[in-house]
Amino acid sequence: MRAESPVVVVANRLPVDRVTDPDGTTRWQRSPGGLVTALEPFVAGRGGAWVGWSGDAGQAPEPFESGGMSLIPVELSEEEVDRYYEGMSNASLWPLYHDVVEKPEYHRTWWDTYVQVNKRFADRAAEVAGEGAIVWVHDYQLQLVPAMLRQRRPDLTIGFFLHIPFPPYELFTQLPWRSAIVEGLLGADLVGFQMPSAASNFVQLARRLHDLPTRKEFIQYDGRTVTARAFPISIDAEAFDGLASSPEVVSRAAEIRKELGDPDRIILGVDRLDYTKGIAVRLNALQELLEDGVVEAPSTVFVQVATPSRERVEHYVHMRETIEQQVGHINGIFGTLGGPAVHYINQSVPREELVALYRAADVMLVTPYRDGMNLVAKEYVAARGDLGGALVLSEFAGAAAELKQAFLVNPHDIAGLKAQLLRALRVEPEESAKRMRAMRRHLFKNDLDHWASSFFAALKAQA
Ligand code: ADP
Ligand code: F6P
Repeated sequence: MRAESPVVVVANRLPVDRVTDPDGTTRWQRSPGGLVTALEPFVAGRGGAWVGWSGDAGQAPEPFESGGMSLIPVELSEEEVDRYYEGMSNASLWPLYHDVVEKPEYHRTWWDTYVQVNKRFADRAAEVAGEGAIVWVHDYQLQLVPAMLRQRRPDLTIGFFLHIPFPPYELFTQLPWRSAIVEGLLGADLVGFQMPSAASNFVQLARRLHDLPTRKEFIQYDGRTVTARAFPISIDAEAFDGLASSPEVVSRAAEIRKELGDPDRIILGVDRLDYTKGIAVRLNALQELLEDGVVEAPSTVFVQVATPSRERVEHYVHMRETIEQQVGHINGIFGTLGGPAVHYINQSVPREELVALYRAADVMLVTPYRDGMNLVAKEYVAARGDLGGALVLSEFAGAAAELKQAFLVNPHDIAGLKAQLLRALRVEPEESAKRMRAMRRHLFKNDLDHWASSFFAALKAQA
């Protein structure tokens, strides 16, 4: 195994999933996510390494080569998965960073394990990084890694990117380990955020909490300059566009409409089943529109595709029950035999099917209470090369700063949400095409490659 990788990515998950074939043999398959696609050229093309967790508790597999990268699995025991991943990452930091949509829990045992696991990631990265290498650390699960790594390897250039929102001073400071997190991130040369407001929240924390000298996006710390800047993440717009306009997907989209009973209007939601996504509020809005009689089922149907996520974390268990009850309630009242108002799919669907759904949907409903970016909104726009469809988008998704021609909504304002949903359902094709054209223009200029290249360029400039 290489001990001299010039580029190292450190992320909670490896870019591959373990799959079991029908004959019982297991193999690694590249994960479908956009992040992998974006980073692969920077890592694979240069003999780089990727340090991450396989997703299974227990003994980690030996390092192996895949797709031109050295993959370095990090081991997590059952207890570590429980405390570091489900606990500290997803029941403390996740809700805190998402505007405390649910109440975060703080436990000292979770924190201790978070520190211990971050050390392990930093150790692995320090072992594989070559002299003067560039190391790019990702997301809220690994915020201590930059400082731990710098302590072990001062020769490295270290970047960090936070994929989720970063809260303002007033919220962040409730975290009992707030100083340790800020110091952890300050170990990086460049700290990237989705939004300029998140970057300035971080600079403000460094100034107010640690009394550090700051100027614009620069923080003076420990004889170094740390830069905090926004790099809004994106998608491979061309790949989505190409797939969406393929004859297979176009004909599957028509088939989906038929399977749904040829409704006048299809509304679509696609999310990880997460309480930040505002799935319940969409269902409330739909229910009220049906009650008001301004929308009728099954001539209008709502398809909600919700991937199971973090299923052992309590908040997620509750939200799933609530949503499933709501779906049952709406269908019980407004559905007909063979004609439900809401089609609920609690599964992950293949990429082609997802894109066909985007292509079939007249209205895409994206209503998070808070979201770092929301790639689903961007995927929908990329898939609509036919300029059809209307996007209803929460103001509290990072994507709203870019997709300004969407029907923007405040998900806390149910009356406003109903009004915008109705506007989107009734929009004239000329107006929706104009909106879609403008959003696509922005998206194709600011795609995933643009995001990764600008982060790498800014990081190299710090070297
Ligand atoms: P988050 O990172 O919080 O999950 P994003 O919207 O930014 O939210 O990214 C979600 C990603 O997961 C998108 O690429 C989307 O296509 C994918 N995805 C979401 N739901 C499903 C699903 N049911 N099946 C397949 N992919 C999904
Ligand atoms: O967007 C935040 C994030 O944690 C990503 O890093 C990750 O790919 C996605 O949500 C899914 O989360 P998990 O890895 O916990 O299943």
